[in-house]
Formats: sequence, C-alpha cells, structure tokens
Amino acid sequence: MKGLLIKNARVIDPANKIDQIKDILIQGSQISRIEKDIAPKAIKVIDATGKIAMPGIVDMHVHLREPGREDKETVESGTRAALKGGVTTLLAMPNTIPAIDSIERVKLLQGIIKKDARAHVLIAAAITRGRLGINLTDIAALKRQGAVAISDDGYSVDDEDLFLQALQKASASNILVISHCEDKRISNKGVINLGIISTRLGLKGIPREAEYTRVQRDIGLAKKSATRLHIAHVSCKESVEIIAKAKKGGVMVSAETSPHYFTLSEEAVMGYDTNMKINPPLRSREDLEAIKQGLKDKTIDAIASDHAPHTENEKDIEFERAEFGVIGLETELAVSINELIHPRILSWMELAEKLSLNPAKILGIKKGRIACGDDADLILVDPGYEWSVEKDKFISKSKNSCFLENRLKGRVEHTIYGGDIVYQCPA
Ligand code: DOR
Ligand code: ZN
Repeated sequence: MKGLLIKNARVIDPANKIDQIKDILIQGSQISRIEKDIAPKAIKVIDATGKIAMPGIVDMHVHLREPGREDKETVESGTRAALKGGVTTLLAMPNTIPAIDSIERVKLLQGIIKKDARAHVLIAAAITRGRLGINLTDIAALKRQGAVAISDDGYSVDDEDLFLQALQKASASNILVISHCEDKRISNKGVINLGIISTRLGLKGIPREAEYTRVQRDIGLAKKSATRLHIAHVSCKESVEIIAKAKKGGVMVSAETSPHYFTLSEEAVMGYDTNMKINPPLRSREDLEAIKQGLKDKTIDAIASDHAPHTENEKDIEFERAEFGVIGLETELAVSINELIHPRILSWMELAEKLSLNPAKILGIKKGRIACGDDADLILVDPGYEWSVEKDKFISKSKNSCFLENRLKGRVEHTIYGGDIVYQCPA
C-alpha cells in the first residue's frame, strides 16, 4: 500500500469540530482514514506524538508581485515561502504591474501559476481598470475566466456609484468583493497612525477615520445592494464596532485582520524602523485589544498575512519615502500561536477557523478541513518549539518582516499539500 500515515497527532478539524488524538492515513491526494491505531503497512510514517495536525492555512491576502516586480517576489518564491509558513492555499492580490484587470491578464497569471506555483493559488482581479477607480473591469468575464474575487487593494474605489455598480455586478456573478477601506482624502499622505507618537516623531499621521468611515460606507452599499462584502486588514476599534453592528443587522459582511495588528502597536515605530510602516498603520494599544476581542467574539472571521514584499532599496530609506507593507507568510502561524493560543485568547479550534476554514468558506472553496475524502492539505505543528525570526532564513525574496529578531514559540514541522510532504523543518 502506498501512502502517508501520520501517527498520534492531535487532529483539529474545524469543519466537524473534532479535536482528538488520531492517526491520519493519506492515499493519493486525499485523506482516506482518520482513526485510532491505523496499522502501518509499508508506507511512509510520521510520528506526530505531541504535534497538532491542522488544515493547511488558506491565506486570503497575499501580494505575489508577479507579473512586474519579480525582484520583490514571484509566484514560485512566494508559494515556497507559503509552504514553509504552513500556507497551502492563497489568494493573490491584483496590484501587480500591470494590474490583473482583464481576461488576458488573468490568463497570463494562470499560465505562470500552472508552471511555477508550489501551493494552490487563487486569483483576485481588479475592480476597476488599472485600479484607477474610473472604469469597471468586466467582472462577469473575469469570474468566468476563474478569478474568485475582485479588489482594488491598495486603493478604495472612491466613487460611491461606481462601487455600488461593482457590488451589483459581483452579486450577479457571485464573485467576492474585497474592500481596502481607506479614504485617501483623510489619510492624506500620512505615514503612521495619527496620535501622540506621530506628533513626537514629527511624522504625518493617518487618522483612524480614514479607515472606519470607508468601512461604514462600504457596508452601507453592501446592504443596499444585498451583496456580500469582505473587509480587508481591519486595524482599528471603530471598524470592529461597525462590522459587529452590521453583522447583527444581517448584512453579509466578513472581515480579516493581520497578525501585526494584534501583536504590535504604534510604539513599534519609535525607532523609525521602516519595517513597521504598513498601510493601514499600526494603531494604539486600545485598537490592538479591540482586534483581539473582535477575533474572539467572531466579528473578525479570518487572519490573513497581507504578505507585502518590498526590496531593501525600497525599505532602507527615510521613513517618509519607504514603501508600505511587511512580509508575513512565514511568520503568521507562529505569531498567531504566540499572541492568541499561548495567552488563551483563542483555542486551537478557533485558530484553525480563522486561518483555514473561514477564509475557505468566504472564498467558496472546499478547503480548511481535515476529514475523510478531503484534500490532503495539512500541517503538523510543534506548539512548543522556540525559534528566532532571522532575516537570512526567509525563503521569500524580500526580508521586510516586522518580527525580525523576535523569539517565537511554535512552528510548522511538516506541510503536506495534495498528499505530498512539500516542506519539512530543519532538524
Ligand atoms: O502596506 C500595504 N502594502 N498595504 C496595502 O494595502 C498594499 C500593500 C502592498 O501592496 O505593498
Ligand atoms: Zn489593502
């Protein structure tokens, strides 16, 4: 018998709410049995005693930079980094050069993915042509070609009527709309959160209103058009409150946050470290607590990395001129374990929901689960292994992590994708 047998893992399946010590037998690309004491018969066996088996991470916010900025990242390097971080499925954002805003460009990217991707890559196309906020893309055609979402990420669609039209067309085609909520008239070229720290550092501040007023507007338009809407990278308390209220009122809204928003606050910028420059910016401690609370009470459905690779030339310069964004694929699981599991804010089950099952559901794919007949995309995690985040250990082409030199407890030991062991940690 060919296959892979994982012995004695603590199996977390958020789809069936299973949390038990079991063996998992994988045959071909699927999970064929999950039981106690499966006899090992001439197949590869992994002893997973003390390890957690979770569904592979479904990261719904990743910038792979291909085409156009292959010096920052490629489909190949980004998906290899993903596998190291336990990510087996990811959604690639369309702010490439050129933007993914036509069928031809979706086809081009699909060709690259087919050739180079090491993990499952889904495509988000642009809402407007060139992400300029003026003319809508052919949303129905993009969906037919295989895009699973639309977003102008990096920008919000300022024109309210145009965004409403986009929502209506997306609804008719059943494609997910992902909103980057930022009113640029309010953020007005700011570089960090507006507050006492921006004043002290002499850096231009981004008011929180720039985010939450746009969250409010977009939720209002989603309600008006009876369309589902996903809010990207929630960073502040008011956004969490607005989303919670909308959910209670029956609006079809979902939301994600990123590990840096529940780990770091604006104080991290005090040393003018450009790896702390992110859009939306790191906010106050109060916001950080509100994000954690929002994860706990299910207002925030998903954790996504917002992996945004940039070269050293674009980061190792004056704070004002440096690019916004941090890499995150290789640290998101460990940071989440440190900030949410070890302090008992979330259970392993809840973390598997945020990282895998919920994003899969939002994207409408059958991933994020560990049961018989499911795709064998899963990870084995050592929850107690301590390691340091080191720049030269990143697989990603870019090294702009906001967690450099951090000590983390918990790491991915094996990543299994389509039944194959595609990553194994160094001994
Ligand atoms: O910090 C960010 N970087 N925020 C975004 O919205 C875009 C991203 C990027 O593409 O670099
Ligand atoms: Zn964004």
